[in-house]
Amino acid sequence: MSKSDSSKKKIQAIRGMNDLLPEHSPLWQYFEGKVRSLLARYGYAEIRTPIVEQTALFARSIGEVTDIVEKEMYTFEDRNGDSLTLRPEGTASCVRAAMEHGLLHNQTQRLWYQGPMFRHERPQKGRYRQFHQVGVETFGLEGPDIDAEVILLSARLWRELGLLEQVTLELNSLGSAEARAAYRDTLVAYFEQHHDRLDEDSRRRLTSNPLRILDSKNPEMAAMLADAPKLIDHLDEESRAHFEALCAMLDAAGITYEINPRLVRGLDYYGRTVFEWTTTALGSQGTICAGGRYDGLVEQLGGKPTPAVGFAMGIERLVLLLETLELVPDAARGELDLYLLPMDDAATGAALQLGERLRGELPGLRAQLHCGGGSFKSRLKKADKSGARLALLLGENELNHGTATLKFLREEREQQSLAQEALAETLTGLLGNRDT
Ligand code: HAM
Repeated sequence: MSKSDSSKKKIQAIRGMNDLLPEHSPLWQYFEGKVRSLLARYGYAEIRTPIVEQTALFARSIGEVTDIVEKEMYTFEDRNGDSLTLRPEGTASCVRAAMEHGLLHNQTQRLWYQGPMFRHERPQKGRYRQFHQVGVETFGLEGPDIDAEVILLSARLWRELGLLEQVTLELNSLGSAEARAAYRDTLVAYFEQHHDRLDEDSRRRLTSNPLRILDSKNPEMAAMLADAPKLIDHLDEESRAHFEALCAMLDAAGITYEINPRLVRGLDYYGRTVFEWTTTALGSQGTICAGGRYDGLVEQLGGKPTPAVGFAMGIERLVLLLETLELVPDAARGELDLYLLPMDDAATGAALQLGERLRGELPGLRAQLHCGGGSFKSRLKKADKSGARLALLLGENELNHGTATLKFLREEREQQSLAQEALAETLTGLLGNRDT
């Protein structure tokens, strides 16, 4: 390729990083709006942190020998020679910010965040290199009541989105750090007895992170893993009581769950409760929301011991799920209600003003003004193409009589001539009382 050819080649987006196009943004806005109002109803406050942090923050919190830190981070040197990383998740940044701004001193916090995260994974449906999470993190609360609350909060979101019947809650307890260390020895001894049945990846993990072997999806190891000793049978007394109390609260709230003794999570900061919400409707990337307790992390990052629990959900996966299950309500399609159609250029000013008036009177109305002139026929074509349900036509006759002609673009229905004063009421009757 000659130099001039290569300079003309179109530059494309980075693999695994997606543009959100206009046809999809209404569904994202619908989902984000639902989450935002739900979190306000539970008394959570939003926190926004930079998308870039010092690399050490993630290495020290997520763990040096996790997949994320070992091979998935976007890490680079900035112009000062500092090692920086695009955040692969939100918990570490949230803890860093909460500590830095004194939010954890003798107080509890219920925080949430939303935004892009970056992991250099192999892209496929539901798995991207830039993806978006909504997460919640709570600090200063050690009892199982807050574990139950964050789970109930997520369950309410699924219910309000129509998803509750389509998702499964998997639950486990990882116990205390001491119980985990003792269990680790038991597990390593078991795996050593079955060394010949471990795949290469698992052999490597045997010394670095043996608990993660339990997470292996390799079918050849399934039987051996099913017989492995279970952490839930080796819990310390306090963690057992915490877990039992949590299960009792979920039972009382009518939340069904499956205890999955092999659920260990891919980040090192967890202890005690861990959970994942999964679906079978998305293929292999079926975890839509995941989290757990991380009581040791604040101290590990230099703060005072502070109990904490939270979760994050993947927005791409939830949006995909709503589409796959055809659970997208009309309001999330972003369709126009009304196309304001001046029949000729002389009516443009009046149509512009009428649009302003109607938007003032009906705050939920989605109305678009025809701009750009054209013949009456081409104007009507544009009205039809706009996707609006109704068109409001203004021409010389209408201007003279203070009326507008209401045309139904999606139904076989006689058009109506209406007094402009009566429009707001008629439109409310036709469209319902919209506040979004
Ligand atoms: P995580 O399990 O790594 O946990 O990610 C949480 C969710 O983010 C996943 O269940 C999935 O829905 C979504 N997700 C993760 N990676 C990708 C990807 N490459 N493409 C699309 N979606 C993805 C955490 O990040 C923890 N910080 C959660 C947490 C908060 N734990 C306590 N507090």
